[in-house]
Amino acid sequence: MQIQIFQDEESLHRAVAKELIEAVKTKPNTVLGLSTGSSPLGTYANMIKDHQVSGTDYSDVVTFNLDEYVGLDGTHSQSYRYFMNTSLLNHLNIPLNQTNVPNGTGDLKEACESYEAKIVSAGGIDLQLLGIGTNGHIGFNEPGTAFDTRTHVTQLLQETIDGNARFFDSAADVPKEAVTMGIDTIMDVKKIILIAYGSKKAAAIREMVNGPVTDSMPASILQKHQDVTLFLDEEAASLLK
Ligand code: F6R
Repeated sequence: MQIQIFQDEESLHRAVAKELIEAVKTKPNTVLGLSTGSSPLGTYANMIKDHQVSGTDYSDVVTFNLDEYVGLDGTHSQSYRYFMNTSLLNHLNIPLNQTNVPNGTGDLKEACESYEAKIVSAGGIDLQLLGIGTNGHIGFNEPGTAFDTRTHVTQLLQETIDGNARFFDSAADVPKEAVTMGIDTIMDVKKIILIAYGSKKAAAIREMVNGPVTDSMPASILQKHQDVTLFLDEEAASLLK
């Protein structure tokens, strides 16, 4: 695991955006794995700015997102499809039919299987962005998730529901289930960039990096991936040995 520590969030986001932009310039049909939540927002803002100023071309890029809430279709303002369209995809020259977010409505078993098949037929994910939950989840793979899982439906833990309640009118409105890439799906990607900033993430970062590899800290499995870089601010890195 490589670790880069930044003095502030802005320089962290600039550096992550640079990685993604370089990946797209080097391989125009690159397959990007994307995430939602607050962690990547500044990165996406930098990518949009670069596209407007420098015209980086996304017309051949394919994207796969990590997860989606069960029961929310893409028109729901809290769905991850809506988040991705409004926070990034609508602002780049990427055809939306090359962008994939798991389907959280309809036949979920079929949605999980076809998501896995689509990733395979795209040639696998070249570069995956991850955030980390304060409980160590990656995607919506909560503590206790088996390391060999592929895309599946999962129950969200109360702490995750509470953590995401800020985006909804109340915690009661947060869906209780999600479709998520599994841990094994994430471990198959070629390169991973994990973003974390703020003191709230410091304990999870310490456990992920210095702790044992255990399913009670899902992100700890990343110790076994061959190409992971953590982009941290000083607060998120503050408990590292
Ligand atoms: C989002 C995702 C989650 C988040 C994590 C951190 O697609 O899969 O694992 O990355 O919950 O969320 P934020 O960035 O809001 O702190």
